[in-house]
Amino acid sequence: MGERDMSLRTRKIVGEGFEYPVELHEDFSAIPEKLQSLGKISKIFVCTNREIAGIYEKYLVKELKKLGIPFHFIYLKPGEKNKHIDRVKKVYHELIKEEADRNSLLIAFGGGVIGDFVGFIAATFLRGVRFVQIPTTLLACVDSSVGGKVAVNVDLGKNMVGAFYQPQFVYAPIFTLRTLPEREWSCGLAEIVKHSFLKGGDYFQKISQSKRNEYLPGSDLLLDAIDGSVQIKSEVVSQDEKEGGIRAILNLGHTTGHAIESLTQYKKYSHGEAVAIGIVTALLLSKEILNFSKDYFLQAISIMKSLELPTDLSEKPENILKHMEHDKKKDGSEIKFVLLSDFGASKYGVPISRDRILKTLMEHKSGAFYGQ
Ligand SMILES: NC(=O)c1ccc[n+]([C@@H]2O[C@H](COP(=O)([O-])OP(=O)(O)OC[C@H]3O[C@@H](n4cnc5c(N)ncnc54)[C@H](O)[C@@H]3O)[C@@H](O)[C@H]2O)c1
Repeated sequence: MGERDMSLRTRKIVGEGFEYPVELHEDFSAIPEKLQSLGKISKIFVCTNREIAGIYEKYLVKELKKLGIPFHFIYLKPGEKNKHIDRVKKVYHELIKEEADRNSLLIAFGGGVIGDFVGFIAATFLRGVRFVQIPTTLLACVDSSVGGKVAVNVDLGKNMVGAFYQPQFVYAPIFTLRTLPEREWSCGLAEIVKHSFLKGGDYFQKISQSKRNEYLPGSDLLLDAIDGSVQIKSEVVSQDEKEGGIRAILNLGHTTGHAIESLTQYKKYSHGEAVAIGIVTALLLSKEILNFSKDYFLQAISIMKSLELPTDLSEKPENILKHMEHDKKKDGSEIKFVLLSDFGASKYGVPISRDRILKTLMEHKSGAFYGQ
């Protein structure tokens, strides 16, 4: 029997040597059919954490039982600090004890932490086994589950050890977003805003007219917002899987974002909040360097405020600059930014002098631009 498309939205991610769908579904009911389409599976390993399992395991188990394939749950500890190289060995050992082989399938069932970690295990265990992504956070739906970047952290840096390793498919069960904490919505919305600024056109118009409380699981707005983000990732990844070029545009807001995350030891801001603030710095620079218009700049701030994303900078510019200098995206001696000349028109790898960065960070911190 051929596969029926029962999804709410589907996008194909196509690149050199890979092609897979990203599907949005209401619930888990199409999972058995999706897994059957993968051919022989000796055993399924669902990797998740107890927070997510506590709410959703029973529903997933009900669907997996329909397949008649043995399955086993591996529970990881929640939180970024557990996406760590030190946790990897324990999972390899559990897989070996549970007789995982080359026909086994791993399922990353959770947010970006689980997706990145499990993707890394899949890329390395037995020199690579198949895995699928079932993202349960908005950020994972719009960003981390798509595009094949997988990684773990080491003591000296985030995402320092990893691979480009694509899943067999991404299956986003939208109903799980009903239990997503408010702060996690901000993380996903910041990425959606970033994608809409990069894409421009209809997608930008749709996001720019939206308000935070309209993003409800089941709403067309949420489905379109996720689908539009996945489309942008798919366009970029198909041209440049390994970030040798255009994929770098997805780092809009990340130069300042990463710096304030590491400066505040990953405790004060979520990644999305830091990126939102970083987008404002990037747009201030865009105004000066690429003639991004003042009206567009103020429109961008107003969109971010409608989505209740932070825009103010409170850290000291000198300290932020120090952390930028340590960032791995710094290439040689230059600090680079992604800038916009318009919504939908970006330039990546723009080197900016330290003096200019400092001046712009001071302007950002002062908030003077609100009165412009
Ligand atoms: N690979 C990539 O391209 C890429 C892109 C962006 C971010 N990332 C990575 O993603 C990670 C952040 O991911 P995240 O923002 O999804 O955070 P996360 O995975 O830590 O999840 C946030 C919290 O929400 C809980 N949770 C998840 N789904 C839930 C649900 N449906 N209901 C209730 N609670 C739920 C989790 O248990 C966790 O405590 C970072 O490690 C970042 O580096 C990767």
